[in-house]
Amino acid sequence: TQGFTVAIDGPAASGKGTISRAVAEHFGFAHLDTGVLYRAVGAKVILGQDAESAAKTLVPEDLTNPDLRTPDVAQAASMAAAVPEVRAALVDFQRSFAARAGGAVLDGRDIGTVICPSAQVKLFVTATADVRARRRFQELSGNGLETSFEEVLADVQARDARDMGRADAPLKPAHDAIEVDTSDMAIEDAVAAAISLIK
Ligand code: C5P
Repeated sequence: TQGFTVAIDGPAASGKGTISRAVAEHFGFAHLDTGVLYRAVGAKVILGQDAESAAKTLVPEDLTNPDLRTPDVAQAASMAAAVPEVRAALVDFQRSFAARAGGAVLDGRDIGTVICPSAQVKLFVTATADVRARRRFQELSGNGLETSFEEVLADVQARDARDMGRADAPLKPAHDAIEVDTSDMAIEDAVAAAISLIK
């Protein structure tokens, strides 16, 4: 499995994170949630730092900041992610992670299209905006965050539009990606489908 890479892309709350973790565990591959890199940049922008310099000076501790999962950080991340210099600063780290011995799963928005165009397997995980907002709403409420379904849906839609509409590395399936629509699937079934596709 030297250099074996699984690229998993898709919009917010599509199920790609859960699928990626399960796939990595199943095959014994390392897993990188690349959204965390952009969230770490977003968190620094909220504290007043310039996005480009934040991306160029990220350190491992920035990736374990417990506040990275908030909706504010998600929006700041997607704004920073539209800046080409921010994306460029994060490429080498992601590519070296992908090339590690023993195999790797990377999930994000541009893994199959830009970061790892020659990944052995590419999945594009989708679900309707309504289903994704429902999942994210449950997750956020479960973590004790006060929010409404309407607010979460508006956030998800704003982020989708920004991620799909940007000029540099927009969210879209690679031409050779396999699409997995999880709208009507239990997450265990989506995981099982992804594992059998990879096998
Ligand atoms: O996946 P997650 O929701 O944590 O990503 C946060 C934001 O980071 C996304 O909305 C997107 O703008 C950006 N991102 C990106 N490219 C990636 C991963 C995330 O642009 N590979």
